[in-house]
Amino acid sequence: DRIDWRPDAIELGRFAHYMRKEIHEQPDTVRDACRGRLRPAEATAQFGGLNLPPSRLRRIRRIVFAACGTSWHAALVGEYLIERLANLPVEVEYASEFRYRNAPLDDRTLVFVLSQSGETADTLGALREARRRGFPTLAICNVVGSTIAREADGGIYLHAGPEVGVASTKAFSAQVTVLTLLALHLGRLRQLSFPAGLDVLRAIESVPELLSRVLDREPEVIAAAERMAEARSALFLGRDLHYPVALEGALKLKEISYLHAEGYPTAEMKHGPIALIDPETPSVFVAPRGSLHAKTLGNIEEVRARRGPIVAVGTEGDDELARLADHVLTIPDAPEVIQPLLAVVPLQLLAYHVARLRGCDIDKPRNLAKSVTVE
Ligand code: G6P
Repeated sequence: DRIDWRPDAIELGRFAHYMRKEIHEQPDTVRDACRGRLRPAEATAQFGGLNLPPSRLRRIRRIVFAACGTSWHAALVGEYLIERLANLPVEVEYASEFRYRNAPLDDRTLVFVLSQSGETADTLGALREARRRGFPTLAICNVVGSTIAREADGGIYLHAGPEVGVASTKAFSAQVTVLTLLALHLGRLRQLSFPAGLDVLRAIESVPELLSRVLDREPEVIAAAERMAEARSALFLGRDLHYPVALEGALKLKEISYLHAEGYPTAEMKHGPIALIDPETPSVFVAPRGSLHAKTLGNIEEVRARRGPIVAVGTEGDDELARLADHVLTIPDAPEVIQPLLAVVPLQLLAYHVARLRGCDIDKPRNLAKSVTVE
């Protein structure tokens, strides 16, 4: 590994902050996470370091992911994708809980830990606990040679390069990319057909180009950020694959702009958070076109009826959404499995611009550390 991981070694170039630079690197991040791993001739993805033969992987009946923070959100996207493509039960655990609980494991369960830094104390604790109990444990890490990468029985590197901004952005995209490839790999070992696998593979290949188009829409995000910067609190709502994206959007906003933000499954809004809606509390809907879109539009109507400001991440040309929302952050039309990778970007940029307008220290937010090596 010849990369120099020290922050000082990384040039900011034309960007004022590492966070924005890293957001704009994401087309390359996704490309690098896929490099050498796509197998179109077999309509699958392949990994060099899992250290498990296909026969062993096919016997797996359950997957457990343990992680913290943004990595936990990426794992949640992984859960939804693996259910969809491989029909395998997945549990996503906070590493800090998993390590001290008596979480049942068996030899047909595969444990993964996810960590950008590879040094997070709780995630390392989860890895050590699973291994101590005799279960081979794999790691999805970015930092090569990190403690977690060294102690795991095998795993997948993100190849995202050094991430300097404390708020994680490109590492999330790399994690979601790798998890999409993992879901494809596991799916193709099970029931996913060749043509269905090829559709997923082609969709992943199209992501870098689509991401460049999302990044070109930054001016739309700035307009929405000007509105949001005045707020004290915001709700982030998403369904299905976009529920974790909503959680991640809320986390980004909290971390760097110090606005209170809460992520929720869209339809759960009516069971509590709707009480918070008023003309000063924006709701950010992650609402690209997809199988549940009509239901989401209904939920947006409910917020509108209560005069709550509405920002929506939506598909280009969605006039109905444009009619309901005050600000639409557009992403290109794309298959559902890759939508999380596209939809998270406007939310990263939204947090960035809100924080900038509020004069916050974007790359070094108060009270937070890039990697938390205490419990
Ligand atoms: C800290 C960082 C977050 C990160 C989390 C997990 O809280 O501020 O950005 O998501 O740790 O870090 P890891 O390196 O394990 O992914």
